Amino acid sequence: MKALITAGGHGTRLRPITYSMNKHLIPIGNKPMIFHAIEKIAEAGITEIGINVNEGDHTIEESVGDGSAWGVKVTYLEQAGGALGLAHIIKNARDFLGEDSFVFYLGDNIILGSIKPFVEAFLSSGASGYLALSKVPDPQRFGVPELGKNGEILRVVEKPENPPSEFAVTGIYCYDASVHDAVDGIEYSERGELEISDVHTWLIENGHTVKYEIVEGWWKDTGKPGDLLEGNALVLDALEGANQATTVEEGVELKGEVELLEGCQVLGKSVIHGPVSIGRNAVIRDAWIGPHTTIGHSTEIEGARVERSIVMDEADIRTDKHIVDSIIGHNATISLPHSETESGYRMIIGENAQLEL
Ligand code: G1P
Repeated sequence: MKALITAGGHGTRLRPITYSMNKHLIPIGNKPMIFHAIEKIAEAGITEIGINVNEGDHTIEESVGDGSAWGVKVTYLEQAGGALGLAHIIKNARDFLGEDSFVFYLGDNIILGSIKPFVEAFLSSGASGYLALSKVPDPQRFGVPELGKNGEILRVVEKPENPPSEFAVTGIYCYDASVHDAVDGIEYSERGELEISDVHTWLIENGHTVKYEIVEGWWKDTGKPGDLLEGNALVLDALEGANQATTVEEGVELKGEVELLEGCQVLGKSVIHGPVSIGRNAVIRDAWIGPHTTIGHSTEIEGARVERSIVMDEADIRTDKHIVDSIIGHNATISLPHSETESGYRMIIGENAQLEL
């Protein structure tokens, strides 16, 4: 069994963050998003992983390396020609996959817990395709299965205006080698992509078995900023606190699960209310860091109250304001006015930034 992870695309709904970084490297609980996918796959006992990246993008490789950190072997598969659909990613990985069965894992899907039972259920099912379905309030955003009288999948429709069920097909799939016939058998959709939903419908209509499991409470597709924060919360909820801080001063209050990574300092009258992860060499002074917050490596926070947010590496926040539900990019600065005579907010805000003042 092999695994194929997607780490390409342009993350347009996460701009401006994705102007300067691949979305799959955004830190979730102080680990690049794609590390979570690799961990799950390695834990399921799979050691050969192909990672699909945009043509010429070496940033994933720079971060993940050859996979030896997880005891796996990673092969990078560059996809030419832009976003041609998930089924095109399988086509592009044809030589890497050979005749083996594989887990297809969308690198921007955050899940909790192990995928091992899911993979084992696929292997013992004898099915050609095995899907994880999740009940969602907005199926229009996803691939949606139409279910028959006995609960069997009749077809899967991609982003339907009128969803035939209340389930989304999540981004973790298992296939045997017959998926390649399906990929070759389908046509490009109206939006110019080879759709994974069409692959599923093709398999069913051509006599292959596609089975599924319904998963509850462990899945998040992180396409939009709000989803990213929910994914971060999901990961932090499973956090086991650890203290590798250089300094935690006496006046500091730590509550709940708090991860203090190597070399960080928590100073003054700071309150850290877990689940929270504080990055390596970060400095927190007289600040209130609230539940479901990731503070990046070498970031400094003084005075602020930060809650349900992701603050990336090397940011500098010195303010008396309350920051909530926010994603703050690498090396960003938020400070108090330089003089008391300032008559308004002074900002240098990049393209596509979003502020609620
Ligand atoms: C893709 C698939 C969709 C699936 C979703 C899961 O959509 O096309 O069928 O339900 O992933 O995350 P995308 O997120 O690329 O819009």
